[in-house]
Amino acid sequence: VDRPRVLSGIQPTAGSFHLGNYLGAVRQWVALQQTHDAFYMVVDLHAITVPQDPKELRANTRLAAAQLLAAGLDPDRCTLFVQSHVPEHAQLGWVMNCLTGFGEASRMTQFKDKSSKQGTDSTTVGLFTYPILQVADILLYQANAVPVGEDQRQHLELTRDLANRFNTRYAPTFTVPDPYIVKETAKIVDLQEPTIKMSKSASSPKGIVNLLDEPKASAKKIKSAVTDADTVIRFDEKEKPGVSNLLTIYCALTGTGITELEQAYEGKGYGALKTDLAERFVEWVTPFRERTHEYLGDPETLDAVLAKGAQKARAVAAETLAAAYENIGL
Ligand code: ADP
Ligand code: NA
Repeated sequence: VDRPRVLSGIQPTAGSFHLGNYLGAVRQWVALQQTHDAFYMVVDLHAITVPQDPKELRANTRLAAAQLLAAGLDPDRCTLFVQSHVPEHAQLGWVMNCLTGFGEASRMTQFKDKSSKQGTDSTTVGLFTYPILQVADILLYQANAVPVGEDQRQHLELTRDLANRFNTRYAPTFTVPDPYIVKETAKIVDLQEPTIKMSKSASSPKGIVNLLDEPKASAKKIKSAVTDADTVIRFDEKEKPGVSNLLTIYCALTGTGITELEQAYEGKGYGALKTDLAERFVEWVTPFRERTHEYLGDPETLDAVLAKGAQKARAVAAETLAAAYENIGL
């Protein structure tokens, strides 16, 4: 394949994806499989850096995979797999651990944020070296580009540093990837608190739209979204974050442009926009839920898809690991 290679991962801990996950990440994955040789994984090894219930972890991993397929990932068009099914991730992860300075790892700001919330006693060493496993995830596939959000930029810099270090110290082995900061990615905010991101951890139940919830309940949340005291439907993230959020979602789900929407709703109230958006959402989410439940109800097909994905991924990962071992003297 001469399409550039991309790699991206999503955590299985989330249970149902929310609208932010879909519009901010998954939708781009679906688009990228058309233009790129795309490798996508459910990162269960990353999930165990914090305590997990074994049954829930396994169920959430399959749930994430089912939702990715339901959202439009095509196993004939991309490589979809579960991280732990490809042992080379942990193996190259160790090599990368031994190439990283302790001070260098200590400078990762995301770890500082996460561990300061947990306290040192419940923080694992795995959480500390998480970015280094991420480096291995990327380098194993010789990825040219990694679609990441702004918050992951530092981890991608580490990836570039370690790839260059290994290539210089031993022998050219790894492709040095470019960050592919996805610009047109929609940032979805909380429906009740439009100044914060819609998120599993920070949103109240009324502020977050989980894709697998009863569509009627989600429609109700959309209809009672917080807007503002004004009545004009205009895109303005600073002054009108609630309305702008609804326009962003509408636009992303239907492909209608923001300006077109502003014109269509000129002179109409927020109620009309909310009612229409709720309807569009239900139209979109109903088949998504059906497809997800089809995959979950047919574990053999889902397992076969993931097994085939792991096989395709391993073919690439094993070759890279063998070269790395050879060059480092293992
Ligand atoms: P959460 O913040 O709910 O825990 P994750 O951190 O697991 O979600 O994010 C999974 C993916 O979804 C990431 O690529 C992240 O950038 C994207 N994402 C999460 N929340 C949003 C949001 N509100 N708007 C846009 N993208 C989001
Ligand atoms: Na998050």
